[in-house]
Amino acid sequence: TEPLRVALAGLGTVGGGVIRLLDANRDLIKRRAGRAIEVVAVSARDRAKDRGVDLTRFDWIDDTTALAEYESADVVVELIGGSDGPALTLARKTLAAGKAFVTANKAMLAHHGLELAEAAEAQGTALKFEAAVAGGIPVIKGLREGAAANAIERVTGILNGTCNFILSKMEAEGRDFAEVLNEAQALGYAEADPSFDIDGVDAAHKLSLLAALAFGTQPAFGDVAVTGIRHVLAADIAEAAALGYRVRLVGVAEADAHGLFQRVHPHLVPVDHPLAHTTGSLNAVVADGNFVGRLFFQGRGAGDGPTASAVVADLIDIARGEFGSAFAMPASALAKPAPADTGER
Ligand code: NDP
Ligand code: HSE
Repeated sequence: TEPLRVALAGLGTVGGGVIRLLDANRDLIKRRAGRAIEVVAVSARDRAKDRGVDLTRFDWIDDTTALAEYESADVVVELIGGSDGPALTLARKTLAAGKAFVTANKAMLAHHGLELAEAAEAQGTALKFEAAVAGGIPVIKGLREGAAANAIERVTGILNGTCNFILSKMEAEGRDFAEVLNEAQALGYAEADPSFDIDGVDAAHKLSLLAALAFGTQPAFGDVAVTGIRHVLAADIAEAAALGYRVRLVGVAEADAHGLFQRVHPHLVPVDHPLAHTTGSLNAVVADGNFVGRLFFQGRGAGDGPTASAVVADLIDIARGEFGSAFAMPASALAKPAPADTGER
């Protein structure tokens, strides 16, 4: 059988992780996918940068967006980031060429997910984004496939590894906000602009994608009410702990007769609640289905290994020929969400 040939855009934390994972688990992946998965071409900004992986075996393409036309590639993987710019150009060009597209870019999908899903559908190809929400946790697959038979009443989650790492370290080790943020950046958890993490925007991007999957609506990032953790003080965390709570940045999406209500805020979580035990870079997603009941997903939400694991899971699906609509139903069937009629509840 022919290998699945991959053109890879972005060779940073996640892109490097994808190459390392494909190298380390090559034989296992070939057996599971039924065919080999091979990177054939790569691109990033700086060709000279040492990335700790051998790139000489791949074609280097200077113009990243030209990967869409790389003839022998079956699929393009975008790990650059940014809601617009080269990532979006590459996505549009790849899907217009009828090639499968895999991305970890929640910012781009939160803003342009509907357009890209429609483009994929029009061309009969795949748009896959398991890595875009909650890192290594297979929560897109969980909602899109595992819970597909259920009406979902509510989705709740800790969706940002950087914030969770900061809040947990501040509580457990009495560490300073700025110092822990630096550590999260060094570990590869934070966005290129970490204000997306600490101001709750990244979690809101992810929540808008989860809500679209759970409620069959178009992603509506603009409707998410957002407060980040920038103003959470060590004293707030200590006071919460004294009262039996932990501070967590939590996203909630719920639909009722009044509309779809989406919010991301610091929450006080009782110490005996599972979300309080979601520590460090872990993420967690709780979904309530009308037949399955409560589903609880937990795992590492950021970093090279977990995120690469999710990217390669998408590639394995494509290699097997298993892919359907990006948002669990045809993009044309996604409802326009009616914004919630109240600001608080
Ligand atoms: P990095 O900053 O580590 O890597 C980004 C890569 O993109 C680099 O190789 C960079 O090139 C390249 N790049 C940046 N701008 C351009 C451009 N204009 N043209 C061509 N290449 C460019 O980011 P991450 O790997 O952390 O993140 C990648 C994506 O994955 C983002 O969308 C992020 O939100 C998402 N993500 C990240 C997770 C994580 O834990 N880090 C988890 C889940 C999703 P160069 O190296 O030459 O500078
Ligand atoms: N910056 C993100 C986080 C990466 O900290 O969760 C994973 O999406």
